[in-house]
Amino acid sequence: MKKSIGIFDSGVGGLTVFKSIREVLPHRNLLYFGDTARVPYGSKSKETIIKYSIQNANFLIQQNIDLLVVACNTSSAFALHALKKEFKIPIIGVIGPGVKKASQVTKNKRIGLIGTEGTIKSKVYEEKLKEYCPQCKIFAKPTPLLVPLVEENWLEHKVTHMVIKEYIESMLAKNIDTLIMGCTHYPVLKKTLRKIVDDKINLIDSAESVAEVISSKFDKEKTEQDGNSKFFVSDNPRKFKKIGESILDFSIKNVKRINFEET
Ligand code: DGL
Repeated sequence: MKKSIGIFDSGVGGLTVFKSIREVLPHRNLLYFGDTARVPYGSKSKETIIKYSIQNANFLIQQNIDLLVVACNTSSAFALHALKKEFKIPIIGVIGPGVKKASQVTKNKRIGLIGTEGTIKSKVYEEKLKEYCPQCKIFAKPTPLLVPLVEENWLEHKVTHMVIKEYIESMLAKNIDTLIMGCTHYPVLKKTLRKIVDDKINLIDSAESVAEVISSKFDKEKTEQDGNSKFFVSDNPRKFKKIGESILDFSIKNVKRINFEET
């Protein structure tokens, strides 16, 4: 059986990562799992996120994958280490690639970061940045209202504009030249963000950064795959399909509901 790339997120937001991977690897089979029964991860404890992430990874590994992508920033922050200890296959999170990209494009070495409460509290971005750019300074802010606004599909709504402005004004005053969108949902807000931040500020999309790393590192040899996509969720496939299609811009044929107690 041909092996796929497995991708998981707390819900629908990780489809931004799926989309970027699909763009760079059109021939690879991709499996996506969204933990829609237990979303949001952003406000939960490290222990809980590790437990959920191991269950999600276990499920995807049972489906025969040769690479696991942890699309969720909160899982990448809290559980990447535990996942790498637990499983033998290559595992990649979204934080390393995003930080690397930010450190390459910043000129004044002042980087803004927005993400969930969990991601910001974990300080994992700061730790990673020390590896790539010890002189860089991060100005971080949790922006918890943005996930529900995306889920509501208020991508360019005036309320969303106001909320983003309120969140990032203090960061802009610190003269950042780069802003990391450290959450799966934020890339779909890029248009609205761009109206608030100057063109000179680099917006770092972790989804694009992780896809670049995967295509350069893990997929040098050609595969005979036909670019199948399969989608699994832990609850509410219909809602996933509806929001998912607006993120992906294509129609999702089938979303299968998984119950971990039954697998
Ligand atoms: N997927 C989460 C992340 O990237 C955002 C949504 C949530 O809180 O579960 O951090």
